[in-house]
Amino acid sequence: MRNTYLVAAAILAFGAVAMGQTNPAEKTAEQEFKNIQVFQGKPANELIPTMNFMASSLGVECAFCHAAPFSADIKPQKATARKMIQMVYAINKDNFGGRNQINCFTCHQGHSRPTSALNIAADAVAASASAPAAQAPSGRGGAAGAGAAKPELPTAQQILDKYQAALGGAAALNGIKSETVTATRVAGDNSSPETVIRADGKLLITGDRGGSKVKSGYDGTMYWNGTASEARSDSAAQLALDLPLYPGAGLKAEGARVFGEAPLDGKTAYLVAVRSPDGAARYYFDKDSGLLLRIITGAPTYLGTLPLQVDYSDYRAVEGVKLPFASAWSDHTRTWERKVSDIKLNAPVDAAVFVPPPAPAPKP
Ligand code: HEC
Ligand code: HEC
Repeated sequence: MRNTYLVAAAILAFGAVAMGQTNPAEKTAEQEFKNIQVFQGKPANELIPTMNFMASSLGVECAFCHAAPFSADIKPQKATARKMIQMVYAINKDNFGGRNQINCFTCHQGHSRPTSALNIAADAVAASASAPAAQAPSGRGGAAGAGAAKPELPTAQQILDKYQAALGGAAALNGIKSETVTATRVAGDNSSPETVIRADGKLLITGDRGGSKVKSGYDGTMYWNGTASEARSDSAAQLALDLPLYPGAGLKAEGARVFGEAPLDGKTAYLVAVRSPDGAARYYFDKDSGLLLRIITGAPTYLGTLPLQVDYSDYRAVEGVKLPFASAWSDHTRTWERKVSDIKLNAPVDAAVFVPPPAPAPKP
């Protein structure tokens, strides 16, 4: 079963390449899978991220609920999970206007059997503002709750203005029309070359996985990975974070809330939470330098957000602006880094590179 899990993780990472020729975003779960009872009507493409969400919430692997094949109802844990899913939906419907405020992680916290129902009340507060696996910010429940004086906080607009200034100012940033980034992707002991091209709100990432070339990107209308659309998957969440010309570009003060200060790698960061129709994201800005240190977002699932965190560091001057030369990425199971060796600004980019390769001909 361990192998099955790894295969599932591979499908998740390199996506629809392995999943087939059709665009899974257009199908519902019951059209794509054999034995769907509680997730009927949900987008098929979010099923595997949802399974990862449940497994991570309980701290278990797929085999905890599944014996081969995945569609079979063999283990009692799968039946319990169905009841739990219905319970969670009912709690959210009856109490939270149908929003995914309570999910498996709220109670389970990485254990197959939760130890204390008190976790529900404690986590509902943090979950209301954030991706579920994110830590509660200090300055909210922490120091402030203990009666300490509330730190004087800048507004979201002031934080964003300071960030832009730290990067070189709005005029210099607006002068960036394209970027060609040469980097190394480091995952565990593996290092491989990676190139990132950004222009006209489009993205192309080319890399190397064990000797074979891989490509993913955004063509202005859809995220793609390999040869297929990735409309609603974890890799779409990663690509969305990678799309802007600088981290957090396009972030607006409207709808952003400054939550407090949080310690981060020996620094102090201002924590800014942003809600969007796709979910919530958290941004951590260095209190001293003003630079963006961390973003936490995530991929939607039927139950909540699968968290994705990026830490930016090693900001260096490039032709009048400052850009991060290192980023560390982390989701619920994997971590990897991008180490940049060179960034070229405004080199001509052929628009054709952003077009996804054609899907292979469907099997008869
Ligand atoms: C906590 C229990 C639980 C865990 C852990 C779990 N699943 Fe599931 N899985 C379910 C349930 C329940 C369903 C059926 C959902 C429904 O009825 O709508 C399901 C359905 C599926 C299906 C659809 C099968 C079909 O054809 O009907 C697949 C595929 C699947 N799971 C894969 C996985 C993978 C891969 C993992 C590990 C990453 C995993 N599951 C972990 C409970 C679990
Ligand atoms: C309101 C709290 C709460 C939420 C939310 C919750 N659970 Fe549970 N879950 C429990 C408790 C409590 C138990 C243990 C029951 C027992 O010991 O009999 C449990 C047990 C289980 C078990 C059986 C574990 C075993 O060892 O057999 C599974 C599987 C499970 N939950 C899956 C889920 C999934 C999947 C979700 C999200 C869809 C979820 N739970 C959400 C409280 C919760």
